[in-house]
Amino acid sequence: MRMVDLIEKKRDGKELTAEEINFIIEGYTKDQIPDYQVSAWTMAVFFRDMTERERADLTMAMVHSGDTIDLSEIKGVKVDKHSTGGVGDTTTLVLAPLVAALDIPIAKMSGRGLGHTGGTIDKLEAIEGFHVELSNEQFVDQVNRHKIAVIGQSGNLTPADKKLYALRDVTGTVNSIPLIASSIMSKKIAAGSDAIVLDVKTGAGAFMKTAEEAKQLAEAMVQIGNNVGRKTMAVISDMSQPLGYAIGNALEVKEAIETLQGKGPKDLEELCLALGRQMVFLAKKATSLEEAEQMLKEVIHNGKALEKFKEFIASQGGDPSVVDHPEKLPQAAYRIEVPAKTDGIVAEIVADEIGTAAMLLGAGRATKDSSIDLAVGLMLNKKIGDSIKAGESLVTIHANRDQVADVVEKIHSNIRITDHAVAPVLVHDIVR
Ligand code: URA
Ligand code: CA
Repeated sequence: MRMVDLIEKKRDGKELTAEEINFIIEGYTKDQIPDYQVSAWTMAVFFRDMTERERADLTMAMVHSGDTIDLSEIKGVKVDKHSTGGVGDTTTLVLAPLVAALDIPIAKMSGRGLGHTGGTIDKLEAIEGFHVELSNEQFVDQVNRHKIAVIGQSGNLTPADKKLYALRDVTGTVNSIPLIASSIMSKKIAAGSDAIVLDVKTGAGAFMKTAEEAKQLAEAMVQIGNNVGRKTMAVISDMSQPLGYAIGNALEVKEAIETLQGKGPKDLEELCLALGRQMVFLAKKATSLEEAEQMLKEVIHNGKALEKFKEFIASQGGDPSVVDHPEKLPQAAYRIEVPAKTDGIVAEIVADEIGTAAMLLGAGRATKDSSIDLAVGLMLNKKIGDSIKAGESLVTIHANRDQVADVVEKIHSNIRITDHAVAPVLVHDIVR
């Protein structure tokens, strides 16, 4: 087989066989096919697309390029959740203990964040003593004993995707549905869960800016999952404004605790229930989505979800007393209010720009090697649809520097106040 023939075949809009796709992915992973040929091929895919069968084959070729996690020693249906990435997205911290409180095993491998705030792993490290490095045996044992473990990406998972994603990043081929869908799904499938609930975000703070694009990506990922034997469904959710009030690592841990106590922000709770009920249903613990949601609400009200969060923290070496004493989480030195300039209704909170404001404080990484300040971030005091008076605080900045004019300026230019606005719909669509 010659790579040049496969480039031409895709260039001319023809369908590649599984064998041909394997040849490309294996050859690229082993450095036997050069970047310039693979970039020509990804550009051909960008313009010519892939069939449903090709997408599944590409995904599995990437899964097989490295290690896969074997969760077969864990009893029960393992359900994973994945978000395509948003601003202030605290759902994993809430959902993992919430669903585990119903005896559904959560064996989660999570990433560090690049961008506005840290990832789930960074957020958990805001808890004193919490560690995320477990051996595979410890990981499995932990889930069997506590129904929950969250660890950092370990081993050599989907090396083909790492290489391909880096190449796409510099060749204008990131934004291709078959390439994004196979990239995300290869990582989820290699991580070993039986069922996958996807949270595909749409809006200013998301990868997919319109609901239509988000739906296409969701359908592509759901098809791949179901075609390779993992029950998969997607919730398309709004990311035109940040989720909840907190944007920052320790701040989001506190927000997650409040949500597990039933006192969290409405939108965060609604999304957690929307995703959680699908997880419970896919795990076959409920016969309907309504029943699943009832079960979740019950473990919030009777305190079992919060107890599970404490058990989870303690089982990974962390100090569970932060749950009752969130003031033990890292605290920033300064709290600075950002007052509204006019009376009115909040009409727009541009999610990605507000996320960038949090990153300027140090809440997120600008590059892979930057360090992160777990204490800093933003607390929104208003969301879209809320009324506000001139001088009232729009946002509270939690900073470890006293000069924050750059952040204040960014906040003012990205929160719009008018005389009329309504809160956006949170869940746009469900794809299964
Ligand atoms: N996230 C991924 O993991 N892969 C993509 O291709 C795009 C976003
Ligand atoms: Ca939040």
